Amino acid sequence: MARALDLAARGWGRVQPNPLVGAVVLADGEVVGEGHHAEFGAPHAEAVALAAAGSRARGSTLVVTLEPCAHQGKQPPCVDQVIAAGVRRVVVAIRDPNPIAAGGGERLAAAGIEVEYGLLGREAAAQNAAFLHHARGEIRPFVALKLATSVDARIADRDRRSRWISGAEAREYVHWLRAGFDAIGIGGATARHDDPSLTVRGPLRPRVVPRRVVFAPALNLRLEAELIRSAHEVPTAVVAGADAFQWEMGRALAAAGVELIPAESLDEALAALAERGVGSLLVEGGGRLAGALLRAELVDRLYWVQSPIWLGERGVPAFSGLPSLPLASVERWHPVERRALGDDTLLVLDRACSPD
Ligand SMILES: NC(=O)c1ccc[n+]([C@@H]2O[C@H](COP(=O)([O-])OP(=O)(O)OC[C@H]3O[C@@H](n4cnc5c(N)ncnc54)[C@H](OP(=O)(O)O)[C@@H]3O)[C@@H](O)[C@H]2O)c1
Repeated sequence: MARALDLAARGWGRVQPNPLVGAVVLADGEVVGEGHHAEFGAPHAEAVALAAAGSRARGSTLVVTLEPCAHQGKQPPCVDQVIAAGVRRVVVAIRDPNPIAAGGGERLAAAGIEVEYGLLGREAAAQNAAFLHHARGEIRPFVALKLATSVDARIADRDRRSRWISGAEAREYVHWLRAGFDAIGIGGATARHDDPSLTVRGPLRPRVVPRRVVFAPALNLRLEAELIRSAHEVPTAVVAGADAFQWEMGRALAAAGVELIPAESLDEALAALAERGVGSLLVEGGGRLAGALLRAELVDRLYWVQSPIWLGERGVPAFSGLPSLPLASVERWHPVERRALGDDTLLVLDRACSPD
């Protein structure tokens, strides 16, 4: 299953809103076929792995990260292919909560195939967190925060400079990460201070270029900013109150090709993004926007890159305005990944606990 999860990860940036899925076919104690869902609309992992196994799939064990689907979509139902291939046993990490595709396990069992669930289920659920968020019926985008901080949780120095807190490996990782999100968001102050381009510039080319979203209620932006200047090439949106768009700046932004999204609150902003097809949003700071999203309980995941430096009390805090709750009543988040990125450390925390 660990191998199947590694294979599934290869679909990052290419398959969403479909799930990441990997599959391995085992026969006579060895791997005889492997596959993953590589492109949106392309064959499913099970079909690829079974095709690779050929006749050796008869009597085999199929290990797959998500329950095989039972419905006709852009691809035929996987369960029919599993049954036709003569697979004897299927090991599934997580069940498919999507009511349209679910029920695959029962169909396999009815055909006399042994089915087991739950192997590395937590890991598989974490890998497909955005997909599962929507499969459970959530309308708002899956929201992840990504911040690079000092050991003392500062995202910029006392002069509000943040380039660069983290090292080259971490920055490379961020380009990979961006490719798997529908949109990348920042607060107005980050747009003003950092003038970022928020594009994907790593080896992984996303199937759909993530749109850039600036949360700037006061429309305090510069028309010469990189994000605005390149709005005709890379989709860019600014979220502000409806009134703000009547101002001269609103008209100038629209003329520059920026999409204006009226919203009076973060809830409304996320609903408006969902209406525009944004299923997942990666918010890359700054600290005030991060704090506001956390206070509103709108964050599902934190990608925290911690670098071995201290920036002190005058540095910009990573999470502004959080209430100081007594320890007994704080919410405990769940680590889903810890890894070294050069000298930096990546910690990925989920708010909701993945199913076992
Ligand atoms: N290390 C990192 O990962 C990282 C990442 C990003 C930024 N940074 C650094 O962080 C600093 C900027 O961070 P910051 O905390 O000062 O500002 P910020 O979070 O980037 O932006 C705050 C602004 O966001 C807008 N905003 C929209 N909705 C909001 C809401 N509901 N609540 C609060 N703000 C909302 C407001 O824009 P208006 O001002 O237009 O009203 C507010 O002033 C810069 O120095 C930058 O270099 C570091």
